[in-house]
Amino acid sequence: MCGIVGITSNKEVTTRIVNSLKKLEYRGYDSAGIATLNDGFIKEVKCEGRVEVLEKNITSSNLQGEIAIGHVRWATHGRPSTINAHPHSSETVSVVHNGIIENSTILKKILEKKGYNFKSQTDTEVIAHLITDYLKKNNLKNTIIKVLKKLHGSFALGIIFKDYPDLIVGARRGSPLAVGYGPNENYLGSDSYALKSMTNKVSYLNDGEFCLIKDNQVEFFDTNGIKVNKKILNLSQDNQDNDKGDYKHFMAKEIDEQPTTIKNCVNEYIDKINKQINIYNFPWKINQINSIVLIGCGTAYHSCLVAKYWFEEYTSLDVSIDIASEFRYRKLKFKSDCLYVFVSQSGETADTYAALDICKKNKMKTCSIVNVIESSIARDSNLVLPIHCGPEIGVASTKAFLGQMLVLYILCLKLSFDQKIITKKIYQEKIKNLLSLSNLCKKTLLTDNKIQKASKEFIKAKGSMFLGRGYSFPIALEGALKLKELAYVHAEGYPAGEMKHGPLALIEEGMPVVVLAPRDNHYKKTISNMQEVIARGAKVLLVTNKSKDEIQSENIWEKIEVENLTEDLFPFLITVPLQKLAYYSALQNGYDIDKPRNLAKSVTVE
Ligand code: M6R
Repeated sequence: MCGIVGITSNKEVTTRIVNSLKKLEYRGYDSAGIATLNDGFIKEVKCEGRVEVLEKNITSSNLQGEIAIGHVRWATHGRPSTINAHPHSSETVSVVHNGIIENSTILKKILEKKGYNFKSQTDTEVIAHLITDYLKKNNLKNTIIKVLKKLHGSFALGIIFKDYPDLIVGARRGSPLAVGYGPNENYLGSDSYALKSMTNKVSYLNDGEFCLIKDNQVEFFDTNGIKVNKKILNLSQDNQDNDKGDYKHFMAKEIDEQPTTIKNCVNEYIDKINKQINIYNFPWKINQINSIVLIGCGTAYHSCLVAKYWFEEYTSLDVSIDIASEFRYRKLKFKSDCLYVFVSQSGETADTYAALDICKKNKMKTCSIVNVIESSIARDSNLVLPIHCGPEIGVASTKAFLGQMLVLYILCLKLSFDQKIITKKIYQEKIKNLLSLSNLCKKTLLTDNKIQKASKEFIKAKGSMFLGRGYSFPIALEGALKLKELAYVHAEGYPAGEMKHGPLALIEEGMPVVVLAPRDNHYKKTISNMQEVIARGAKVLLVTNKSKDEIQSENIWEKIEVENLTEDLFPFLITVPLQKLAYYSALQNGYDIDKPRNLAKSVTVE
């Protein structure tokens, strides 16, 4: 999704803007651009497509400057094109913007009546003209205060000015924004990841704040222009490399990294000597929590769905789950004895952040499970539980999904033990099982041939289904989501028992159906449902676990067996073949696996 970088320095900066934009590419975007001051004039270079094209255009136009703002755009208002790419400039002001200006149509009409001409179809261009207009009668600071109050919606902004040649203004409402500090230069970035190659010293803007950044000074202000003091934070140094190594795609690498990330995460939370879970900073007493709400989007939501089964089984808490984009608009009854848990790989998902914000405003207990510990969601929660899986670059969430489930499982065990629902013996057995999970996951990675073969059928089909019961149902949803987002094949995830209530009508000769049937409580029932789809012509790819008991069916098209382990941990293993199925299906079709069409890694708009 959109990304912002800005640098004000006493040295040339355009090359570094381009390099930082490249760091933001993984988020998914469709066009890119840069604006700088050149001989006292604002100059823009923009393009549709990749940052490499922008880089070539910058070289050929010989664009240079000691101050610049850059942007990668993921289209919301106006289709992807060079004209709609950011920055958007008037003669005196140039703006890059993440977010959506909801009242842009009204503002545009007012500005057009005043004689301002619009070149693009974007909501952002109104900001450039609005600032230009206010600057005619106001000083810079008052202009910013007044313009920000005029804008409805969400934004992170980076702005440069013809008449203030060393100044970048940053402003935030709803969309994250960070300031970085360097020697004789300072930076603006839509997240700290964009700035990491230049500095590890950053401050974050809070909602409603704006900042004035010069090469030797940074000042922060609240909505009314009152000065705000900021802490300078040191960014964590993750040692994980962000290269593909020998892999063709980040996704393939990230799937294969899962045994390592499970191991790292378990090491962070498990005290192996005393066989106990360490969440040192847990801020509440166990009797202060009687219910729990798990909230996320997409894959993160699926991890919440799996965890619901664990919390119901092992704790006495009332458990509910919610999709963040729905949660934020519900008429909620907040309960002070409820723990609200926000799950997000990026920690920047706008809907999840908004849900957290509502809980914060209602003074609820909040916990976030994130991968990026400097993220907005992490910073604004009472308790942060990182998933420790290292940078995830592929848009499709793989290792982060396993990490999210793992931390939710660990949190569940801790609460269960603290509530005295499980005995110490069972608690320690479960911890022991967790210690073996990484190795079992490693073995599950060795199932490539069968999956590659199966993927050929999935890409030919006009649709497919993923079925499971209990813990396997959310994994069916996740398998279907992966296939949709990567291979662009229609796929439905369904509780296997629901088929006869409607979806069975979709089954026809040769339709590929994934049935998730590890030998758990639901096994026999799921196998019966499998027979029902086979009887109607489905080609079943069965994912089960290794066992001496033969499966009583002759017509299974393909079978994948994961390692054996306790049934509550099956979700970790049966996920892996489904990730690979989506990967190989996309690969056969020659699609852009790490950047699927229309999608973004970090969804920072509503
Ligand atoms: O960063 P988040 O975990 O909050 O992202 C949530 C979803 O946008 C994300 O999981 C999305 O569904 C993935 N592309 C799925 O692979």
